[in-house]
Parts: sequence; structure tokens; C-alpha cells
Amino acid sequence: MKVVTTRDELRAARAELSVRADTTGADTTGEVGVVMTMGALHAGHEALLRRARADVDAVVLTIFVNPLQFGPAEDFDRYPRTMEADLALARACGVDLVFAPTREVMYPGGDPVVRVDPGPGADVFEGASRPGFFHGVLTVVNKLFALTRPDAAYFGEKDYQQLSMIRAMVRDFDLPIDVRGVPTVREPDGLALSSRNRYLSPVEREQALVLHRALAACAATGSVDAGMAEYAKVPEVKVDYLAWGEGRWLTAAWVGGTRLIDNTEASNS
Ligand code: PAF
Repeated sequence: MKVVTTRDELRAARAELSVRADTTGADTTGEVGVVMTMGALHAGHEALLRRARADVDAVVLTIFVNPLQFGPAEDFDRYPRTMEADLALARACGVDLVFAPTREVMYPGGDPVVRVDPGPGADVFEGASRPGFFHGVLTVVNKLFALTRPDAAYFGEKDYQQLSMIRAMVRDFDLPIDVRGVPTVREPDGLALSSRNRYLSPVEREQALVLHRALAACAATGSVDAGMAEYAKVPEVKVDYLAWGEGRWLTAAWVGGTRLIDNTEASNS
């Protein structure tokens, strides 16, 4: 596994990958898949990497805590950075190439003045609560697509609205990339895995289960009221939204100082 941090190193390593992928596949051209992350990898990321490993000839992992997608009062500075453990997991998953740029490498001229406009899909849910979030996400995803030149890209369904927005960008910009969603990985008690779970105290960890319970109640009854009734049982948790959208029940809530999101299909209970 090669680990690179600069654009020149990435260009050279990416070119080598194409050669290798070309010679390993039955077809003349092998597929390169990318998994984009902000590090602090957990079993949810592992599922993305293993799916990519099973699907494509060469797997690229990007690790970059993207400042553009954090609001001024958000957790950019304290976002967990666990590079050594991330690289160990990447190695165990058979990743071929890791691109872990600094902010200066990613944004050499300072923060970009031209950003992807996410359109009206960003006016609701995460976009409504976190102004500028999807401009930041789509801008960095677009740049990482240009830099890593994948055939396929893997994103978790846990960030369901993000997945939809990335699909819309790929469609509207005619990017030649197959976006593949991977189901959310959960703890045995239902808590969706998230890098931010590590902020939770043991008491908050227990309270956080209400997100899953609220979604399950919505899915079972088809009514948002049933989900809100679950939330009402844990008044310490402050609901941001619980709604139907994108063909899913979607929710975000504050558990202490930690904002968590989750979603479920209508048929899941
Ligand atoms: O889902 C994430 O970890 C981030 O939003 C992403 C897609 C890596 C862009 O920074």
C-alpha cells in the first residue's frame, strides 16, 4: 500500500495503478474505485473499503478533514485524527493507494472562491441546519474525483442526503463515475457507526439510541408522530429534524454537544 500526500506523488502513483489494474483484470482496462473519508475510520468505513476491494481492481482511499464543510461553530479543530490506526485498517482491507493531503495541498491558493452549488436539494435537512455544508462537501468531492480519477466511488448510506447530492452532481456534471451506496453499519444495539460517536459519554451513548428507535417507530407506523413520541421519552436529546425525504425517514439530533444523524428505509422496523 502506497501512502502519498502531494499532488505529484498522487499523479505518479495513480498512473502506476492504471497500469497494474490493466494487467490484472480480464478486460483490458481495470476499474479503479475510490473511498473518500475524513479519517477516524471505523467499521462503517471498513465496509466501504471491503465492498470496493471486492468490486474493483484497485482501491484508492482519501483521508482529508475538509475545512470547507465545517461551520464556524462546528468541530473542525477537535474532529478526531487517527492516521496510524486509519492506515492499519486500510492495509488490512487491501487498499492500494492512500491520498492524505494537507489543507495547503488540497487548497493551494487558499479556500476556493469557486464552489459547487448544490442546488435546492441543499435547502432542507442537513443543508438547512448546516449552511454551506453541501457546498463544501461537493466542492471537495469534485476535486478529489478530478485528482484520483476513479471509475467507481463508494459512499455510505448513513449520510443519505450527501449520497443523493453526490449522485446529483455526478449526473448533472456528466462525471464518468459510478456512485455506489453502501448500507449503514450499526452497533448490535442499533446505533449507527459514526466518527463522532467517540465524543459521547457512556450516558449519552445510551441516550443516542433514541435516534434509531425514533426512525424504527416512523418506519413501522408510517407516521412522524410515532417517532417524535420516542424522542419525547429522552428529553435530554434535542431533535433537529425527523422527516420523510429522499425515500427514507431521516433524522438529526443533538446528544449533549454532539450532533448525530441517521436514516432508515420505510420498510425497516
Ligand atoms: O462523508 C465524509 O466523510 C465527507 O463528507 C466526505 C465525503 C469525505 C467529504 O469530505
